[in-house]
Amino acid sequence: MLIIGSGAAGNSLALQLPDDMSVALISKTELHEGSTYYAQGGISAVLSNIDSIDQHVEDTMEAGAGLCKPDVVESIAKESKVIIDWLLEQGVKFTKKNGSSSRDKLHLTQEGGHTYPRIVHAADKTGEAIQESLINKVKKKSNIKLFTHHVAIDLIVSKDKNTNNKKCIGAYVLNKKNNLIDIFQAKFVVLATGGANKVYLYTSNPDTSSGDGIAMAYRAGCDITNMEFMQFHPTCLFHQKAKSFLISESLRGEGGKLLLPNGNSFMHKYDSRGVLAPRDIVARAIDSEMKLHGLDYVLLDISHKKNQFIKQRFPTIYKRCLDFNIDITKDPIPVVPATHYTCGGINIDINAKTNIKNLYAIGEVAHSGLHGANRMASNSLLECIFFSKKVLEDIKNKRKESHSDISNYLDHNKNKNISEEVIIKHSWQEIRTLMWNYVGIVRTNERLLKAKIRVSIYKKEIEDCFNKNIISGDLIELRNLVCIAEIIIISALTRKESRGLHYNLDYPSTKIKGTDTVINIDTKNNIRLYQQK
Ligand code: FAD
Ligand code: SIN
Repeated sequence: MLIIGSGAAGNSLALQLPDDMSVALISKTELHEGSTYYAQGGISAVLSNIDSIDQHVEDTMEAGAGLCKPDVVESIAKESKVIIDWLLEQGVKFTKKNGSSSRDKLHLTQEGGHTYPRIVHAADKTGEAIQESLINKVKKKSNIKLFTHHVAIDLIVSKDKNTNNKKCIGAYVLNKKNNLIDIFQAKFVVLATGGANKVYLYTSNPDTSSGDGIAMAYRAGCDITNMEFMQFHPTCLFHQKAKSFLISESLRGEGGKLLLPNGNSFMHKYDSRGVLAPRDIVARAIDSEMKLHGLDYVLLDISHKKNQFIKQRFPTIYKRCLDFNIDITKDPIPVVPATHYTCGGINIDINAKTNIKNLYAIGEVAHSGLHGANRMASNSLLECIFFSKKVLEDIKNKRKESHSDISNYLDHNKNKNISEEVIIKHSWQEIRTLMWNYVGIVRTNERLLKAKIRVSIYKKEIEDCFNKNIISGDLIELRNLVCIAEIIIISALTRKESRGLHYNLDYPSTKIKGTDTVINIDTKNNIRLYQQK
C-alpha cells in the first residue's frame, strides 16, 4: 500500500495495517510536519453522562448548515469512544481531571457549536501529543517504509479498454534528496495529504497544506465536492511577525471574551450563543465589526482568569504570545480570522473509497459528508481516525488481487530547463493575495468572476512552466495551488445562495433544500460541473 501523508490520517492507517502488508508512507517534509502537529483544541467524543450521541449528531448537523450526511455523522459520533480508547492505547497523553488514567477521567473542554463540554485534549497541544505517539509507533513497525522529503506529483491511473473504468496503480513522486522522480507502484493508494488552506494569504496552517491531494485526485478524474466551503478560524494572532498563529477556540470555551478595542463586547448582536457560536458566524461577525469600525483586529481576553490556570491550560499559547510581548495573563490578545480548514475535498463514500478503483482518501483531503457547509470544532481529528479504520476494513478482502502492469508509465524524468524560482515565488504570492481579497469570508459575483479570469491566466502560465522546467517541490505546490484556487472559485460561482461558510452578498438567503457542488474533469481537461440532488 502507498500512503501519501503522515498526519493523523496517514499515520493511524499505517499503524493498523497487518504486519505482513508492505507499506510505503511518504511525507513531503519531516514526518511530524502537517496540520495535525499544530492542533490545539482537541478531539470531540461523547464520553460524559450528560452528553449523548444524538446530541453530538445534532450539534454537528446544526453547524453543517443542512449539508451533513446524517448516516456519516451518526457513524462517526458512535465510534468516538472507541477512537479515544485507541489513541490512549497508542500512548497519547490526554489531560485528565485527576491522576486517573481511565477514559472516564479525561478532562473535557467546550468549543463553539458543542452543547456540552465534549473535547478531549492534551492541554493546548493535542496534535503534538498525537503525532509524537503515532510516529513513535510507526517507526517501530518493520512493514512500514518511511520516505520523508518525497513529494507526490501525480497519481498513476490505468483505464480498462472495454469498460473505461479507472484504477489507481501508483504515483509519481519527487525525491527531494536527489531531485529525481520515482515511481511508486501499489495495489492500493491512499491520499492523506491534508487540506488546501495555503491557497489564502493568511492561514493557521503549516506550509504543507497546499491542496496537493485534492489537485492530484482532480487531475486523475475524482469528483471534488463542496470546495467553496473554506473555513476561516475566527481567532488567529494578529502581529506583523507572527505567521497567523492560532488562538484556540477552547480559550473561548474556558471563558475568553471577544471585545472591540474600546472594551465593548459584540458577539451577542450576532448569535445568542455569543462567543461559542459556530465558527462561520463568529468569523463573519468579526469581519463585519472590523469593516464597520475600520479595525485591523479585535481582542480576545482571558486575563480575568487566574494566572496559574491560564499558564497550565494554555502553555503553548501563553509562550507564543509572550514571544511578541503579549502576556495573556494580563493583556487581551489582538486576533483576526484566517483560513483554517478545507471542508470540501475528494468525494468519498463511507468506506473512504473515491470514484477511482483502489484509490482512497482520508482526513482533511476528503469530503465525507461529516462537516457539511461548516465543520464543527474538533470533529476533524476524529474523522481522520474513523476513516483510517474504514480503509482497513475495505481492503481486507481485496488483498489477493494481483499488481497491475506499470511499465507504460516509466518515462517521467525528461530533459528540462532549470525553472526560474523568482517567477514561482511571485505567482505564489499573487494567487494567495487574490484569493484573500476576492474569494474571502464575504463574496460577490463580480469579485468571483474577476478572480476566475485572473486565475485562469496563472493556471495556463504555471502549467506551461511545469511542462518545460525541471520539477521542484515549490513548482509542484504552485501547480496544485492554482488548480485548487480555480476549483474553489468555480464551486463558489455555482452556489447561488449563502450557506454556512459561503456567504455571497448577491445571494444572501439560504435555499430550503441544500445541495452539494461537485466538480470533475473530463478527458479533454474541460471542467464538467454539476450540482447533486
Ligand atoms: P495533515 O496533518 O495536514 O498531514 C498531511 C500530510 O500529508 C503531511 O505529512 C504532509 O507532508 C503530507 N503531504 C501533503 N502533500 C503531500 C505530497 N504532495 N506528497 C507527499 N506528502 C504530502 N482539528 C481538530 O479536530 N481539533 C483541533 O484541535 C484542531 N486544531 C487545529 C489547529 C491548527 C493550528 C490547525 C492548522 C488545524 C487544526 N485542526 C484541528 C484541524 C486538524 O488538525 C486537521 O484537519 C487534521 O490534523 C488533518 O490531518 P491529516 O492527516 O488529514 O493531514
Ligand atoms: C482550535 O483549537 O480552535 C481548533 C479546533 C479545530 O479546528 O477543530
